[in-house]
Amino acid sequence: MTPPITPPIAPPITLIERWRRVRDRLLCSPRFHRLATAFPLTRPIARRRARDLFDLCAGFVYTQVLFSCVRLKVFDQVAQQPLTVDELAVRIQLPVHGAERLVRAAIALRLLESRDGGRIGLGALGAALCGNPGVQAMVEHHALLYGDLADPLPLLRGERDHRALASYWAYADGNNPAALTTAQVAPYSALMSASQHFVATEILDAYPFSRHAQLLDVAGGEGTFAISAGRIAPALRLTVFDLPAVAERARANLAAAGMAERSTAVGGSFIDDALPEGADLITLIRVAYDHDDARVLALLKKIHAALPREGTLLIAEPMRSMTGDDPMADAYFGFYLLAMGRGRARSFAEFRDLLQAAGFTRIEPLRSRAPLLTSLITARR
Ligand SMILES: C[S@@+](CC[C@H](N)C(=O)[O-])C[C@H]1O[C@@H](n2cnc3c(N)ncnc32)[C@H](O)[C@@H]1O
Repeated sequence: MTPPITPPIAPPITLIERWRRVRDRLLCSPRFHRLATAFPLTRPIARRRARDLFDLCAGFVYTQVLFSCVRLKVFDQVAQQPLTVDELAVRIQLPVHGAERLVRAAIALRLLESRDGGRIGLGALGAALCGNPGVQAMVEHHALLYGDLADPLPLLRGERDHRALASYWAYADGNNPAALTTAQVAPYSALMSASQHFVATEILDAYPFSRHAQLLDVAGGEGTFAISAGRIAPALRLTVFDLPAVAERARANLAAAGMAERSTAVGGSFIDDALPEGADLITLIRVAYDHDDARVLALLKKIHAALPREGTLLIAEPMRSMTGDDPMADAYFGFYLLAMGRGRARSFAEFRDLLQAAGFTRIEPLRSRAPLLTSLITARR
């Protein structure tokens, strides 16, 4: 006779959980909403919630307004001098009614601004974008992401068919990445290089690179970060390791930056090949989040083996906050990496566990002024 199944014992409901359940019931009730909007003390909260909810519903439309401005180079057009809608329409080759609609939407989103004489100039957010070609390149490549996310449910169910973003990041499927051709790596390598400038400034301000003799930037792309590090630490020798077709581009860039003498670019795959030895500082920038835990752990072990005693690993990428209320890591990267087919953003604690398992000690977060761009962790061999 099979023994009777004992149902699992539910944990006791805490006072705070009881309150949350009451709150959920209230917030779901249309009557409560009507009362909250009518009562002067709760009205501002009700309005803010309604606004937040509307922004969530409209998010895709907002990004398409931004995408249109970037694709048509609207910000560049009005950056020199404000233009009338008619003048702008000619320059961006839209009919006046299309330009008018775009301009109104962009003004509402603070991308553009109405100026004297019925002209249009840069808004606060448009001005920030104008000086940042890296973000503009990111916005353009989002066309692939939104195509893939048109119906996210098959992705969430783990049903995969051909996805544009997975083809763009051609190494994502992990099948013989070292065989990728220049044509396959060029688009993502150029995007990474264009968006590297602000990340590099953040990292170089946060950590003293001139303390070290040799840097190895693992999966260092076209060498943009290594070149920036070489500029602020003139005695630092530089090695970039990346897939062969990418390393070739890094070699050319290092030479063009006048750093051929003190640098090398090594082609290989960190999945199959050992890493070059000799560096007392290894950087891993915007790499780990592309990969699952097993591969990250294997990579960290290789980095540990390549470092001398007391050698340092510096990890830099956007990370999850400990509170789990971070839209950038959990919503944006969560769905971006789902569409790409691999990887996840990690918290400091998750990295600490992986680093400890790989043999690292003295694992510490480093203060970052712009966690939206990157968080930082150092660890010692
Ligand atoms: C998101 S990009 C980051 C590039 C650079 N670190 C940066 O921040 O601009 C990831 C990099 O990992 C490289 N990569 C992916 N798989 C690799 C592998 N198996 N071995 C070596 N490099 C790899 C890619 O070619 C790409 O340059």
